[in-house]
Amino acid sequence: MKKNIVILGTQWGDEGKGKIVDYISSDASYVVRYQGGHNAGHTLVVNEKKIILHLIPSGLLHQNTIGIIANGVVVSPAELIKEIKMLEKNNIFINKRVFISDASPLILQYHIEMDIAREKKLGINALGTTGRGIGPAYEDKIARRALRIGDLKNEKNLSTRLEKIVHYYNHQLVNFYQHKPIDYKIILRDLLPTIDVIHDMIQDTTNILHKAIKDKKKIVFEGAQGSFLDIDHGTYPYVTSSNSTVGGVITGTGVGPKDLDYILGITKAYSTRVGYGPFPTEVFDDKDRHFSNKGHEFGSTTGRKRRTGWLDAVSLCRAVKINSLSSLCITKLDVLDGLDEIKICVAYKNIDTLEIISFPDINEWEKIVPIYKSYPGWTKKTLGAKKMEDLPYEAHHYINSIEEITQTPVDIISTGPERSDIILIKDVFEC
Ligand code: GDP
Ligand code: IMO
Ligand code: MG
Repeated sequence: MKKNIVILGTQWGDEGKGKIVDYISSDASYVVRYQGGHNAGHTLVVNEKKIILHLIPSGLLHQNTIGIIANGVVVSPAELIKEIKMLEKNNIFINKRVFISDASPLILQYHIEMDIAREKKLGINALGTTGRGIGPAYEDKIARRALRIGDLKNEKNLSTRLEKIVHYYNHQLVNFYQHKPIDYKIILRDLLPTIDVIHDMIQDTTNILHKAIKDKKKIVFEGAQGSFLDIDHGTYPYVTSSNSTVGGVITGTGVGPKDLDYILGITKAYSTRVGYGPFPTEVFDDKDRHFSNKGHEFGSTTGRKRRTGWLDAVSLCRAVKINSLSSLCITKLDVLDGLDEIKICVAYKNIDTLEIISFPDINEWEKIVPIYKSYPGWTKKTLGAKKMEDLPYEAHHYINSIEEITQTPVDIISTGPERSDIILIKDVFEC
């Protein structure tokens, strides 16, 4: 029996991770966020009620799960409290059910101002960040100047350190970015009341997880973003600032690789990307309208329209390898309902040399064109299907083809936004 399951995105984020984490967590004791921050937007739909989570792990709708925000996550205390309040308004109480690592770096106002100022200065070369201060917060971590959650416990030191950091940021904000300066006293004023709320959640989460593993508890590790937004393996520089691939679990929690039993890659039946950067299978016009309207492809965090495209099996095969995927979960199959033809990109070709490229380097992305294989579409509705037998022949063929191309089994298919719109081919804890 599997105990510890990683669920992560294999594309450019928004694959439907939240829905699958929520579904699988009904059986778990712990659900763990290990990287990213409130740039994530994970949507859960239960009995037609929609909840979007940014920082709180997506398994917390189940009363018996404990949420961990581990050391790899960058945490905005203000956003965390906003989310806790939102959940309480929805009668979901997480008191004593969420623990935050003392080593998680903080996101404070100066990170957000810096993120916004940088994007503005980049102009047409902007990355299209979520503007949540993610990049600057991870920079502080790597530069060893970050204030961390544990520092909130020492208020006297906090003020002195905050003053120094704000001084450092103001120098850049004012002189280089011609941005307004920040007053550290205002940041401190807003931060102090948040400490009371989160004080008791601050823990050595690595230790909690080691104990859970020893006690043979089931743990779900919830990825944010997707494999090609990974800082090392993504389409750099159009990436986020953390490791959204499987390595992020190890460094982001302190749980070693031998304790990860099963790694599930979430893949939309087509592709989307929000923000700028390479997207070889991008479509426009009527196909984009189809994906966009039927799939409601608007960002869960920023509301931006997502770019859409066909499934890219070249990058998916790469995601299988860089994450050591055990299996795939195909989401949003229902969005393909009604298409005459469905395409999968099976190779990339360099338009200058006409060579087939296995995976482009940084400078090659602009020169590649996708080579497609075409599949017949279906007219029968798959929305809400709960058994393989409910799917039309062509949908079986499409799923089988993805398995064949990626040499990876598809263990779960999602057929609608609702928690119950799902085909469980294998029970991931049992297989
Ligand atoms: P995440 O960031 O990976 O958790 O994904 P998001 O929540 O940002 O985006 C996925 C969107 O697709 C959300 O609006 C979900 O409610 C929705 N969704 C998830 N699975 C399915 C599915 O199988 N079919 C349809 N139609 N919508 C889905
Ligand atoms: P979930 O977890 C989709 C994208 C941004 C931008 C780039 C860098 O919901 O899948 P950042 O603010 O992280 O510095 O932005 O990454 N991005 C996401 N795209 N889903 C996400 O999260 C994303 N988080 C960041 O749009 O292109
Ligand atoms: Mg999302």
